[in-house]
Amino acid sequence: MSPTAFTLTRTLPADATAAALRADVADGLTHDPKRLPPKWFYDAHGSELFEEITRLPEYYPTRAEREILNSHATGIARATGARTLIELGSGSSEKTRLLLSALGAPLSYLPVDVSESALTGAAEALIADHPGLTVHALVADFQHGLALPDTPGPRLVAFLGGTIGNLLPAERAAFLASVRSLLSPGDALLLGTDVVKDEATLVAAYDDAQGVTAAFNKNVLSVIDRELGADFDPADFDHVALWDPEQEWIEMRLRARRELTVKIPALDLTVDFAEGEELRTEISAKFRQEGIRAELAEAGFELRHWWTDSAGRFALSLAFPAT
Ligand code: SAH
Ligand code: AVI
Repeated sequence: MSPTAFTLTRTLPADATAAALRADVADGLTHDPKRLPPKWFYDAHGSELFEEITRLPEYYPTRAEREILNSHATGIARATGARTLIELGSGSSEKTRLLLSALGAPLSYLPVDVSESALTGAAEALIADHPGLTVHALVADFQHGLALPDTPGPRLVAFLGGTIGNLLPAERAAFLASVRSLLSPGDALLLGTDVVKDEATLVAAYDDAQGVTAAFNKNVLSVIDRELGADFDPADFDHVALWDPEQEWIEMRLRARRELTVKIPALDLTVDFAEGEELRTEISAKFRQEGIRAELAEAGFELRHWWTDSAGRFALSLAFPAT
């Protein structure tokens, strides 16, 4: 790797991340019903489990989004003329390769993720394959005060994989408004969203036969054990994935198999679970074109393109600051 092609910035000091985890766990496990934000799934092991999920036969979103990018990356490059690609929640950046190739050099790539291991792994592999690419990775929370370095325009912000669906509706609105405030006329937003479909397909995607999603879900308990000295035993919980037809989202939960008490020494907190009590660990909202158009408009974006894969399972939207 060339010494100048890759830099990594931690926008949050490690103790701020630790404080955020403590606050989220203290708030979420004393809330009724119990809940945790999904960003804590993604330690190095959780990031690997997510990559495994993307290869499961039941988990269609990654393959569907890759199909759309295969068909439209050139059109996206032409429509945006982007010289900087900012990717939020970039993970392994695997599908991003299609955009990087279509955009061509010279290009600045700014992947943003809470998972440092995902960022460094992705950057090393990308630089080897894309001469002329400058990677400036940011370890940051895309929901909180995202500040970006000065890089050449036009800028394209990509938020792929359907990760926007992991935000609650009010969080989504705040997030889209904050992305809009980072952009200037001529910049663009590329947004991946999973699409509302039949319940059986959706539930299977979040409750796979091999149990990888169950392991991913339970990994959040291991993160709390390691970081906060808690004594969760993941074996005390069952993985639950259910479709909420009113909210049009999948909910992942962890259900206590028996009555139990968990100690969290770093918080000086003891948490009781009744047998069968559930802890919500993630929502994964599914969308329709008109809903996305309206949410984008509310944040000051105009939806100009809506592409789906051939089976209509997943959508990619290209939006520009409204004039
Ligand atoms: N975009 C990739 C990865 C999706 S997994 C794909 O489409 O396959 C979601 C990614 O978002 C993970 O890498 C996770 O670490 C990151 N993430 C989740 N919440 C985040 C937050 N609040 N701020 C920054 N990154 C976050
Ligand atoms: C990252 N995000 C879009 C995934 C999703 O489908 O909501 C996370 C995930 N949860 C369970 N499986 C995958």
